[in-house]
Amino acid sequence: MASGVIVLDFGAQYNQLIARRIRECEVFCEVLPGDTPAAWIREKHPKAVVLSGGPASVFAPGAPGLDSAIFDLGIPVLGICYGMQLMAKVLGGVVEHAEGREYGRAEMTLGAPSPLLDKVPDPSVVWMSHGDLVVSPPPGFSILAKTPRTPIAAMGDPARNLWAVQYHPEVHHTPDGITLFTNFLYHIAHIQPDWKADNVIQSQVEKVREAVGNGRALIALSGGVDSAVAGAIARKALGDRLTAILIDHGMLRAGEVEEVRQAFSDIDFRVVNAKTEFLHALAGVTDPEQKRKIIGREFIRAFERAQAEIGQREVLIQGTVYPDVIESGGQGAHTIKSHHNVGGLPDDVAFHVVEPLRWLFKDEVRRVGEALGLPAQLVWRQPFPGPGLAVRIIGDVTEDKIVVLRQADAIVREEIRKAGLELSIWQAFAVLLDLRSVGVMGDARTYGYPIVVRAVESQDGMTADWVRLPYDVLETIAGRIVGEVASVNRVVYDVTSKPPATIEWE
Ligand code: XMP
Repeated sequence: MASGVIVLDFGAQYNQLIARRIRECEVFCEVLPGDTPAAWIREKHPKAVVLSGGPASVFAPGAPGLDSAIFDLGIPVLGICYGMQLMAKVLGGVVEHAEGREYGRAEMTLGAPSPLLDKVPDPSVVWMSHGDLVVSPPPGFSILAKTPRTPIAAMGDPARNLWAVQYHPEVHHTPDGITLFTNFLYHIAHIQPDWKADNVIQSQVEKVREAVGNGRALIALSGGVDSAVAGAIARKALGDRLTAILIDHGMLRAGEVEEVRQAFSDIDFRVVNAKTEFLHALAGVTDPEQKRKIIGREFIRAFERAQAEIGQREVLIQGTVYPDVIESGGQGAHTIKSHHNVGGLPDDVAFHVVEPLRWLFKDEVRRVGEALGLPAQLVWRQPFPGPGLAVRIIGDVTEDKIVVLRQADAIVREEIRKAGLELSIWQAFAVLLDLRSVGVMGDARTYGYPIVVRAVESQDGMTADWVRLPYDVLETIAGRIVGEVASVNRVVYDVTSKPPATIEWE
């Protein structure tokens, strides 16, 4: 990948946000574990390094450290929160425990003028979240800003090109945070913004062509955005040397198979109907993790059957995106849930795997998809879990329940779209519960299923808040579901954020 910025991750909840802000500045960046040796970093030829925040105290035993030779690489370094404290401690400043944590909004006033805080208003609002404080900067550093409770809110050593802020410029609560990033990237590190959809497409098309040579490639489409965009890149690179398969496990959303089929009608596209096999394997299984495992296994089986039919392909294209790479623990982050993607393929498949979206965040994937001319309804489709509607059916999965949920889900999505909310919401969907309650319809008593409606706002699916849907939209959704979907007599709305809940119910 193009050399850009390396973000060293010290475990901050916000580390992906730092990377996203840098990408928003059209600069490529890569997130690596905080203790990555300086020698490795040098080999990647980055133009700058950012040290992320983190939950630890620099005084805690076993607190994450860094290779101090990073400060001698001769490239600009920006420390954020924990990254600043680490920088101060390593370079001879004084860090102290603060009396009580400082959390939230603070008013920052500027000290000595600096390229780092150029064009940042004085005073300006910043977001703080820390327990320790730098009270004396290391030799060579000047104090660039302070807040009433933080004597050194920003510091810098222009001679060595080392900079640091105690606040979080990456969060939306710091309104001028992006100015700090543009100052650091463009004016301090002199990086040209060249991380643009067209450049990404061009370089990934070349990568796919190089990997496939004169051979042929295969892609498994899921109906989701990521595999569709990866497929579109591969199609541009290979044309009719690409075969796409879509394994229909019977738990896709209404209309999904047809939309994907149409978008890829110009290449060899095959739908593998594996509904019976999946339903049979899932019969009577109620444990959520076990359901996921069975679906993963059945995917592999269906994939192998398809492969035997199609014949050997040298390369498998996968739609793995950057948050999957970071979240799967490959970069030192914690694994929260065994996410299943279409990519959960057997270890022994003799494929060379190419992942054209491996470096992209979701919004970048969508921009690339648009630039490739994919239909808007496919590109702007809300994320959908690989195991499909099965994770939204609590308890055992049956064909009848899938029909009920698919209808309810289509109503939720249609009403959200009609209300013009589709693009501002991360996900809106229906969940079918494994219980029944009493209702009354006409003059008769009913004993039916409840549907849960869930709508969340999120940047990346890692944290989320429930959407304050207008009452009339909720009313229409509830009225239509109970009126149109047989065996449902009640609709409830989920008003929990993540954490403590997750987005999906399983
Ligand atoms: P949770 O429920 O963990 O979901 O808060 C976070 C985001 O991930 C999606 N999700 C999945 N995506 N394969 C996927 O590709 C999966 O197995 C999977 N499980 C959850 C979920 O829809 C939400 O956007």
